[in-house]
Amino acid sequence: MKILVTGGAGFIGSHLTDRLIEQGNKVLVIDNLSTGKKENLNPRAVFFESDIRDFDKISPLFQDVDFVFHLAALPRVAASIEQPIETNDINIKGTLDVLIAARDAKVKKFIYVSSTSVYGDQKNMPIKETALLDPLSPYALQKYVGEMYCKIFFQLFGIQTICLRYFNVFGPRQDVDSPYSGVVAKFLKQKAEHQHLTIVGNGNQKRDFTYVKDIVDATILAAEKQGAVNQIFNIASGRNYSINELAKIIGGETTSLPERPGEIMDSLADISKAKQLLDWEPKYNLETGLKEMMK
Ligand SMILES: NC(=O)c1ccc[n+]([C@@H]2O[C@H](COP(=O)([O-])OP(=O)(O)OC[C@H]3O[C@@H](n4cnc5c(N)ncnc54)[C@H](O)[C@@H]3O)[C@@H](O)[C@H]2O)c1
Repeated sequence: MKILVTGGAGFIGSHLTDRLIEQGNKVLVIDNLSTGKKENLNPRAVFFESDIRDFDKISPLFQDVDFVFHLAALPRVAASIEQPIETNDINIKGTLDVLIAARDAKVKKFIYVSSTSVYGDQKNMPIKETALLDPLSPYALQKYVGEMYCKIFFQLFGIQTICLRYFNVFGPRQDVDSPYSGVVAKFLKQKAEHQHLTIVGNGNQKRDFTYVKDIVDATILAAEKQGAVNQIFNIASGRNYSINELAKIIGGETTSLPERPGEIMDSLADISKAKQLLDWEPKYNLETGLKEMMK
């Protein structure tokens, strides 16, 4: 198959690209290397250093493409609060450009990567895909708008779209140097540098940490499964840990930081829909994922 991955030089997109190439597909990657890195890129991928918002430049690349996996985004809650206009442009206008190019090229499936953040602070755990959404940051809202565009494009133009709501992904190649790094990457870096692990708020907030290999499995199954169209799926481990528990597993001294705006207290996915319709099952939990990541 000919497959196009946006954001394929990023943390998750590069793992997805590796697996698709291993399976024998021809993979095109569009990435502007804003947070992604050249060294993440599979050397067998056909790389286009372009911005997804440059429609005239990217649209010819969709010719004869079977599947599009759209991961390019500025995926940071804090950054979206600081720079709502810039993130809005990348995450919404950029998604629309990619979606239009995919529709015009009549691709077979468009897989849009959304986020747990669209749920906001939910009271009922585990969270089902049908929960009432409550985005609490510009990033969360932008991801939700992307989902809505997928739905509307399916209804108006028949393009086969699927939305995957990833929950707190961790694994190798996760950015450790950015001020917006995920908590797992941050703690591992702090531990390696013999610093205190910095816990935001009281550390009782819980997250459903999902290992990147499980994410890749589910994402590819979503493209392959017939019938899984115009659907939204939670992709997560289905088990949650508090930040204090995570700090304990990683080990070391801790320091408290003030609470952050838009911080969600509890997160735990109901993954029964993905298990049932995608025939997918996560193989890792936080401990086994961390063990493999350390290697
Ligand atoms: N990491 C997580 O825990 C998590 C959770 C939920 C959803 N997601 C989603 O997964 C996707 C990938 O996230 P990630 O964690 O790998 O982040 P990442 O920052 O490593 O990857 C994003 C990639 O997109 C590229 N990019 C950004 N703006 C671009 C633009 N305008 N044009 C072209 N390329 C551009 C970046 O250079 C980078 O390679 C995102 O859509 C994100 O919203 C991630």
